[in-house]
Amino acid sequence: MDFIRDYADWFYLIGAVLFILTLRGLSGPKTAIAGNRYGMIAMAIAVLTTFFVAENPVVWMIVGAMVLGAIVGIARARTVPMTQMPETVALMHSLVGLAAVLIAVAAIIHNNELAKLDVGLLQANGVNFHEMSKVHLFELFVGCFVGAITFTASVFAYGKLAAKKWAKTISGTWVKPVQALIFITMFAAGIHFFLTGNMTSFWAMTGLALVFGWVWIAPVGGGDMPVVVSLLNSFSGWAAAGIGFTLENNMLIVAGSLVGSSGAILSYIMCKAMNRSIINVLFGGAMGGTAVVVDTGDKAPRNHRSGSADDAGFLMSNADSVVIVPGYGMAQGRAQNAVKELANLLKEQGVTVRFAIHPVAGRMPGHMNVLLAEADVPYEDILEMDEINSDFPVTDVVLVIGANDVVNPAAKDDPSSPIYGMPILEAHKARTIMVIKRSMATGYAGLDNDLFYNDKTMMIFGDAKKVVEDMTKAINGNGH
Ligand code: TAP
Repeated sequence: MDFIRDYADWFYLIGAVLFILTLRGLSGPKTAIAGNRYGMIAMAIAVLTTFFVAENPVVWMIVGAMVLGAIVGIARARTVPMTQMPETVALMHSLVGLAAVLIAVAAIIHNNELAKLDVGLLQANGVNFHEMSKVHLFELFVGCFVGAITFTASVFAYGKLAAKKWAKTISGTWVKPVQALIFITMFAAGIHFFLTGNMTSFWAMTGLALVFGWVWIAPVGGGDMPVVVSLLNSFSGWAAAGIGFTLENNMLIVAGSLVGSSGAILSYIMCKAMNRSIINVLFGGAMGGTAVVVDTGDKAPRNHRSGSADDAGFLMSNADSVVIVPGYGMAQGRAQNAVKELANLLKEQGVTVRFAIHPVAGRMPGHMNVLLAEADVPYEDILEMDEINSDFPVTDVVLVIGANDVVNPAAKDDPSSPIYGMPILEAHKARTIMVIKRSMATGYAGLDNDLFYNDKTMMIFGDAKKVVEDMTKAINGNGH
């Protein structure tokens, strides 16, 4: 075992490289499984190495906690439905934040207790004790307050996404000043602790950071929670990296920084795809702004054309190319398996069928990719927005299933639209457009959609799963 201790940095280096390969693998559906495996190996290396590096570990406590964690984790992983994934991720981030707080608290208490003892006695017992340096105090201060904010903010995000009654959105003119007051007091207490080592200031800072996490996130609307969760993911990474410095653990520093930076990049990508700024998402609620725009309905009524699943099935089976655009409604209606069957049937008839995915279709990053993967849709049939947009003008039929905002042409040609500038799937350029949804209701952004009134568009009203199944039946019945 001395071998592992002597070469710990090498093992950590291998772990770090594997973590980087994990991120690389997770960036595409084809390599995601390999990416996950790298991650598992890297984590096993990190945990085992740390186990042997630790001085006098209390083995039963560590193993006991790991076994308990594994039981809860495996049970949850096996039972969590795909639709509850965002809140599960939020809950997991809260634990990373809590761990950072507890480690910081333990390190400080441990250090304070050692400081009370006789240095000679400590040395006789083989314990090396040094006064905690300012740098260490600073790391603990950062790790602890970022961890505390991450903890309560993630618990709120979990509650909001799981529609718990206690996760109430707060609003009003008082919110921003209260947020600012708590933040400034928290920061002042932290600086005082950093300069003097005063424990009362430390507890005050930690308590205020816990309160701040809550009041900071509580004004954010439910729809923006996925961005918040991704940002908190980033925070939990930075908190872990901060604690890594305190514990002088290179693996924790590297892994924490990877989580921190990848979470920040993901938040940026999501904001860009929604044409929002991160400041607007995080402070829009507190400033009285809102992500959702409600159409006032003061425009003259407009005409749309509707058709049946039979008509649509007939048209698609006679097309050369069909592009399916799934959106939140496909997830809501749990229609992915029915959609896969329809796609297979069309392919058997010689139709080229592909799926077009918008980066923020649905309600969480990769929402559509996950659902289509669950239904075993081949990865090569799934194209990202940038890959498919130029193909729409030469596509015979676009079948929009429960998508709305991500195909709204106003984002491209109406400068007064709140979503103007948001990149969209250019479904309106296809030769024929079919849209499955239950009504003419708006989507997440609360905006009317010109695509539904386009001369080339046929609306097929009904629940996504039922309509798609009816289309399949119609094509089968047609005997093509
Ligand atoms: P939305 O614009 O939300 O539209 C979904 C449409 O699905 C609705 O208009 C609804 O119309 C229809 N629908 C709902 N349930 C249905 C069912 N069972 N069967 C058939 N249709 C159903 O969805 P989108 O186009 O996927 O856009 C996503 C939106 O969420 C964007 O505005 C995006 O900015 C926002 N957002 C996304 C994320 C991420 S990371 N993905 C995060 C936060 C916010 P009916 O009620 O008429 O059926």
